[in-house]
Amino acid sequence: MCGIIGYTGYRQAAEVLIEALRRLEYRGYDSAGVAILSPSLKIHKKKGELHQLQSSLPHIDGRVGVGHTRWATCGKPSNENAHPFLDCSGKIALVHNGIIENYMALKEGLQEEGHKFSSQTDTEVIVHLIEKFYQGDLHEAVKSALKEIKGTYAIAAVVQGSDEIVAARKENPLVIGVGVNENFVASDVTALLSYTNKVRHVMDGETVLVRPEGVRVFDSEGREVHREDTIITWSAEDAQKGGFPHFMLKEIFEEPQAIHNSLLGTLDIIENGEIVPNVQFSSIKIIACGSSYHAAMVGKYILEELGKIPVTLELASEYRYSPGAKEFPLVILISQSGETADTLAAAREARRRGCRTMGITNVIGSTLTREVDEVVYTRAGPEIGVAATKTFLTQLIALYIISIRIGFARRVLSHDAMWKALSELRKMPGVVQAVLDNAAEVEKTVELLVPARDIFFIGRNVNYPTMLEGALKLKEISYIHAEGFAAGELKHGPLALLDATTPVIAVAMRTDHTYEKMLANISEVAARESPVLSIGCDGDRELAAVSVNMIKVPCVSPLFSPIPVTVVLQLIAYYTAQKKGRSIDKPKNLAKSVTVE
Ligand code: F6R
Repeated sequence: MCGIIGYTGYRQAAEVLIEALRRLEYRGYDSAGVAILSPSLKIHKKKGELHQLQSSLPHIDGRVGVGHTRWATCGKPSNENAHPFLDCSGKIALVHNGIIENYMALKEGLQEEGHKFSSQTDTEVIVHLIEKFYQGDLHEAVKSALKEIKGTYAIAAVVQGSDEIVAARKENPLVIGVGVNENFVASDVTALLSYTNKVRHVMDGETVLVRPEGVRVFDSEGREVHREDTIITWSAEDAQKGGFPHFMLKEIFEEPQAIHNSLLGTLDIIENGEIVPNVQFSSIKIIACGSSYHAAMVGKYILEELGKIPVTLELASEYRYSPGAKEFPLVILISQSGETADTLAAAREARRRGCRTMGITNVIGSTLTREVDEVVYTRAGPEIGVAATKTFLTQLIALYIISIRIGFARRVLSHDAMWKALSELRKMPGVVQAVLDNAAEVEKTVELLVPARDIFFIGRNVNYPTMLEGALKLKEISYIHAEGFAAGELKHGPLALLDATTPVIAVAMRTDHTYEKMLANISEVAARESPVLSIGCDGDRELAAVSVNMIKVPCVSPLFSPIPVTVVLQLIAYYTAQKKGRSIDKPKNLAKSVTVE
């Protein structure tokens, strides 16, 4: 996720671009840059937050330009990898939000044709492709370039000698701001609200010509389309949250897109095996903290099932002080921020013990990426709410991909089984969307939870850790005491705590081999008069009959069920905290990155 902006009109472009980028900074802050026609193309870009660009920006007199604020997905944060990018002639400038999957092949081809590259980004290939096709018409050149590209994008390009901006989108947001004798394109309306509240939405596959006197939109076949203006009534802060009351809810609703981004290029990874080291290892150890540790726990089930390899788990804060038996597993460290002090210390310790290490993180260039041998990025985009939501889900996606790769490489997963697992994974954006479409029903069920002092979460098998995560999410943002248990453990102690005032949230997926056992555990709970809120397969009447309320999820194959179940649990935590009036995005005593041990 990055922020892009384009301006053409009568104002000083530099001022407009900087103001818009300030509003877009929540979409990424690894670097920022602008390109302005003055009348030759002047470019200025800087690693770091926007103020670093702003404080070093010379006066550039010009009325047309594009700007970018970056969340790194390909190429570390640096001045060279900052957008905008120029073609070889220095006459075309481009900004991009998205991921180009086939950039390596395109880059090689362009280099053979003599194009010179200055960055490690995927984006730079687009501007060189535009240069290759440019014959005096930027719109035509952009259309030809986009035909070569596999991946997702929202782009804006300018060429020296013209006051027009050409923009396009595929699976990344882009909106036109409509003014008088000036017009804009941006990643979202937040960027535009200081200048106009009149916007025109751009649909997937469309290209746009933006000039001071007007805007034209074209479909993927090149036919001009008519689009009505929409008047925006949000404040800038509301707009940053995309109209959602909190970042957490917005980030939950971004999960289908986040999973989709995490899955881009999966087949290459699995078949070419870049992400699994070519060294022998006969076991895996996963190390993490908090929610990331719960992802690790789910990962153990997935890796053992698909990779047929033994997995042990360690909390990062415990690992570094553990005795360290003489074993050399592949050590996987999971951290969404890549900056958690305990996890970084564990990464160093694992290497000191002679283990090969792999990091799973959402933040390119984070410290973890420098402390491990291999990195897998989750590509969830920036997460602003303190509670991990889309980053947790995409950690699970990364673990599925790694497990399929390991299973395939170890020849314990047949070609057919690999394809079956991949096709399950590919369903996940749609599965999550189906859960989100039912959010209003989830919201109704939390009335039961709001007055409770204690809430228990129970599950079995791969959904035991999912329920630990549900309990953590609820306690951290609602401040209700919540505990997760393996359902079979209740009878060994916790059952003593149950009564009619203690709701129990239970997951029982009909497709799972522990389903009957879960039903028996739920009956035990109901016998102690605890109200049961269950999560199960759509259409499961048996489960509904033993529950006060049942939330249905699509009936996916059991190993993949933590994905939809987690989304329900995140919504439960969110709506409960909202009804209790809590500070959801910034819960008390917690921080997004925990950089102390
Ligand atoms: C809970 C949460 C925390 C983090 C933990 C580790 O919602 O976000 O429990 O999971 O602090 O953080 P990372 O993954 O950044 O290492």
